[in-house]
Amino acid sequence: MNRELVFQTRGLTKIYDQGEVEVRALRGVDLDLYAGELVVMLGASGSGKSTLLNILGGLDVPTGGEVRYRDVDLSNADDRALTRYRRDHVGFVFQFYNLIPSLTARENVAAVTEIARSPMTPESALDLVGLGNRMDHFPAQLSGGEQQRVAIARAVAKRPEVLLCDEPTGALDSTTGVLVLAALEKANRETGTTTVIITHNASIAGMGDRVITLSDGNISGEQRNLRRQDPTSLTW
Ligand SMILES: Nc1ncnc2c1ncn2[C@@H]1O[C@H](COP(=O)(O)OP(=O)(O)OP(=O)(O)O)[C@@H](O)[C@H]1O
Ligand SMILES: [Mg+2]
Repeated sequence: MNRELVFQTRGLTKIYDQGEVEVRALRGVDLDLYAGELVVMLGASGSGKSTLLNILGGLDVPTGGEVRYRDVDLSNADDRALTRYRRDHVGFVFQFYNLIPSLTARENVAAVTEIARSPMTPESALDLVGLGNRMDHFPAQLSGGEQQRVAIARAVAKRPEVLLCDEPTGALDSTTGVLVLAALEKANRETGTTTVIITHNASIAGMGDRVITLSDGNISGEQRNLRRQDPTSLTW
């Protein structure tokens, strides 16, 4: 595997101060992520997964410690710099697809590719997720899994260096979820985008090059898969 360092966090903390109660969402996370790898992130509800992913993606900032994306210091970046960082480098996939209902699949993807620097065509992004034959369908004419694959096409079409996915199969049944994971795995393999997938489902750990477990705001376990599995071969 390519060992080029993409993200590095050191002593990363996030404290939500809500007057009486102080929530320590991250408690000193040290994490290195490498170019092109597919990382599955597991952990109980409230363990800090989304907080960590949001900081990596420049949607949030830490209260302490360091986080770098290549030579960009994300810990001290202002809103403008974070916006530019997200626009230029990050693709997001969330549990809910957030497609624009009045636009077709192709138009939903085009809304992003029109403002990107060296995007794929919407057609090739939709082909990549297996929806080449549904491009002119509106979200309401697509199943949940198909809508999520449009959201993946939209995220990868700008050729982001990193693809951050927060429970991308959270709203889907297992059969449909497998198709979505297969689309993410293919996007990772074919475009080389460094990919993080948060899930509650430990049985998909086999699809990652690496599996990181969070507990109570810190990394409590790490496992490497020498040979990651095709998501369609996982029993779910
Ligand atoms: N905006 C916020 N204000 C206060 N506390 C927050 C905020 N966001 C998250 N938290 C708290 O930080 C902790 C970590 O939350 P986080 O959303 O990162 O967990 P998670 O691992 O993603 O959980 P889940 O699997 O339920 O999505 C939790 O205790 C949560 O209540
Ligand atoms: Mg979460």
